[in-house]
Amino acid sequence: MRYHVRPATSPLCGSVRVPGDKSISHRAVLFSAMADGTSRLSGVLDSADVRATMAAVEALGASLEIVEETAEGLEIVVRGWGADGPIEPLGPIDCANSGTTIRLLMGVLAGWPVHVVLTGDESLSRRPMRRVTAPLAEMGARFETAEDGVAPIGVRGGGLLPGSFDLPVGSAQVKTALLLAGIRATGRTTVCEPAPSRDHTERMLPGFGVPIVRDGLCASVTGPVLPHAADVSVPADASSAAFLVGAALLVPGSDVTLPGISLNPTRAGFLRVLSRMGADLQVTPGPDVCGEPAGQVRVRYTERLEGTTVKAEEVPSLIDEVPLLAIVATAASGTTRFEGVGELRLKESDRLGAMAGAINALKGAAAVTDDTLTVTGGRPLTGTALDALGDHRLAMAYAVAGLTAAGETVIDRFEAVDVSYPGFAGDLATLLRA
Ligand code: S3P
Repeated sequence: MRYHVRPATSPLCGSVRVPGDKSISHRAVLFSAMADGTSRLSGVLDSADVRATMAAVEALGASLEIVEETAEGLEIVVRGWGADGPIEPLGPIDCANSGTTIRLLMGVLAGWPVHVVLTGDESLSRRPMRRVTAPLAEMGARFETAEDGVAPIGVRGGGLLPGSFDLPVGSAQVKTALLLAGIRATGRTTVCEPAPSRDHTERMLPGFGVPIVRDGLCASVTGPVLPHAADVSVPADASSAAFLVGAALLVPGSDVTLPGISLNPTRAGFLRVLSRMGADLQVTPGPDVCGEPAGQVRVRYTERLEGTTVKAEEVPSLIDEVPLLAIVATAASGTTRFEGVGELRLKESDRLGAMAGAINALKGAAAVTDDTLTVTGGRPLTGTALDALGDHRLAMAYAVAGLTAAGETVIDRFEAVDVSYPGFAGDLATLLRA
């Protein structure tokens, strides 16, 4: 689907409740599928990625009922497989575009004596999986993979030993997969990372009766332990909110309020960077939502933004927001440099190459190396034809650029937004009309 964007002729005003957090939704569905008993989940994101996780746990024997679809998301009742473990599904499980689904499932399945084949779409089938299969194999799981270790991947689990791992790159998906496997291994499994990645797993598992010990950059679980059902409410997704924040910052006169947003510090790096750039942001913390800090973000158009340097150690806390921050940087004075962002080449697309290409095509100025992105701001953008490459975050970043670029910006393969924020275009239109 092609999406046409023209420069905004009115400010973005008003308030929208962005949908539930994708990472927290995946975990809530998976952990309740692993648990003994019946869990009630609310505010679950209804998007293609989370639907892939929901279909996967059903194929593995959990029972899942959508009881209500509210403005805040899905209300779901999940009866887990508990001590019986997952059943062997009739065929392969399709993880679609979702890296979180396939990597977390590998950790879940590693502990059970089943053989399950996990597949994905073209993008997912290119993404690196050895970062998960290699440490899980050390614990005793066996994998059959396509060449280069990518999907389709056959998992044969069971009989795990605990492990101790130092991850070379901060990755919540790898950390979570190993902790979930550790739940089934006898003894303590520890995962340490070089910089803090999102910690939703560490926050949510104790609510399911699985104690997690945290020590600086390390998290440990002692198995075997059977998760018990829990009720989870999912806060609004900071990563989805980021695109509306960026749009409001760039369109003159805008004043937007986003309630109920996850303010988890391991996710809020983009707010810290935008503040450093001079953005007019007001963050009002509210009560925690199921152990997750949450609150309201108000953002107003900011005429003068300044470039900044985003250091490698900040990157895990804003890994999914770099495309949006790069667009904001085109409007800032001076240069914005993102260091240590090589991981972006391994996402749903090569986001580093794509963002530099798009900004230059829009007549901005961007340059990349293996793991840096530099944007020189202050050059007015001109609309052009861009390809979202099936990547939801590129599609939304390009739409924000189109609101300020002269003329028309046409975004090909825009349907990718369904992966994380199906209502994005509608919410943007609501704010522009308000
Ligand atoms: C996610 C972790 C991050 C992030 C992804 C979701 C998660 O990936 O980019 O969108 O839910 O754990 P990495 O763990 O590969 O950094």
